[in-house]
Amino acid sequence: MRAPFRIGVLGLGNVGGALARRLADDADGIAAATGRRITLEAIAARRPEGRQAPAPVMAPEKLLARTDLDAIVELIGGMEPAHTYIKTALQAGHQVITANKQVIASHGPALSRLGSLRFEASVASAIPIVELLAETLAADRVQGIVGILNGTTNFMLDEMAKGSSYEQALREAQRLGMAEADPTADVDGHDAAAKLAILVMLAFRKRIDVDAIDRTGIREAPTLPSHASGGGKRKLIAAAESDEEGIRADVRPRLVPISSPIAHVDGALNAICIEARYAGPLLLRGAGAGPDAAASAVIADLVRAARDAPPSAGALLASLADQPCIDVRPLGGMRPFPAAE
Ligand code: HSE
Repeated sequence: MRAPFRIGVLGLGNVGGALARRLADDADGIAAATGRRITLEAIAARRPEGRQAPAPVMAPEKLLARTDLDAIVELIGGMEPAHTYIKTALQAGHQVITANKQVIASHGPALSRLGSLRFEASVASAIPIVELLAETLAADRVQGIVGILNGTTNFMLDEMAKGSSYEQALREAQRLGMAEADPTADVDGHDAAAKLAILVMLAFRKRIDVDAIDRTGIREAPTLPSHASGGGKRKLIAAAESDEEGIRADVRPRLVPISSPIAHVDGALNAICIEARYAGPLLLRGAGAGPDAAASAVIADLVRAARDAPPSAGALLASLADQPCIDVRPLGGMRPFPAAE
C-alpha cells in the first residue's frame, strides 16, 4: 500500500466533525477504495486554545505553513477568510478541496488556475454532480439544467403548503438545524444562485458572473395550500438553458406541475435534472445539505486526489479564466420543467 495521504482541515464545524468521524470510523473502507490511508494530521480553528479534536488544533496560518501535508480541506464557508486561505494554500503548492460555493461561484476560474482545486461538495452536497458534468459528460453538450438546490427553502415551502406561515416554517427549519441563524442566503435565493453559477460554468463551459443570475427568494412566495394550487407544488427552482442565443438562467419560486418528477422532491432534499444532447435527460436526487452528506462529497474528492486523478472540474474552470463573463438573461416566464409522463 502507498504512503498515507496526509490532510489538514480548515474549519472545525459540523462538516469538519463529520469528515473527521468518517475518516476514523471508515478508515479501512476508504483505504481499500483509495489504495492508501487518508490521515487527518491537523485542524485549524480561529481559537484553537484548549479545543478537543481528533488531530492537533492550530491557527489557520500555522496549518497553511506546513509543508508535510498532501492536501488542505477548506470547510470554513463564506467568502472571507476562506477565499484568502484557499488562494494561499494553492500558491504554496497544496492541493485544495473545498465545500465553499460562494468562493467557487465567484473565484473558481481564477483559483483553479493556481493549482489543483476540487469542489464536489460545493453543489448539492451528496449528489455527485460536479465531476459528472466535468468528467462523465465531457464530450456531451448540456442544453438545460433544472434544480432544487436549496434544502432549507424546499422544506419551508412544503411546510407552507401544509398551512404554516413563512415565519412558522422558518422557525421549524431553524429548530431542525437546517437554516442558518441569518437565513438570508437561503430564503433570498443567493445560495441557490451560487450553486447554479457553478453548474452553468461546468455544463455550458462559459464564464459567468454569479451576480448576473436573477434571483427571487421565497419571502414573497404565495402560501397557497396544494389543493388550492391546481395540484402543482411551489418550489424554489434554479434553472438554466443554453442555445445559439446565449444563456438564460434564474432562481425563482415556480409552481411545478405534479407530473414533473421534481414535484415529488420533498423536505430538505435536492434534485438536479440535466438535459444532455446525447445522454438525454438525467435526474439526480438526494441529500443536498447536512454534515454527513457534505462529508461524503469531500471524501469523494479526497479519494480522487489520493489516487492522483486529475481535478477535472477545476481544470474546466481554469480553462475559462481568461474568458470575459458572458451575459445571462433570466428565463422569467419560460417553463423549464423536465417533461414527465
Ligand atoms: N443552506 C444550504 C441548504 C446548505 O439549505 O441547502 C447546503 O448548501
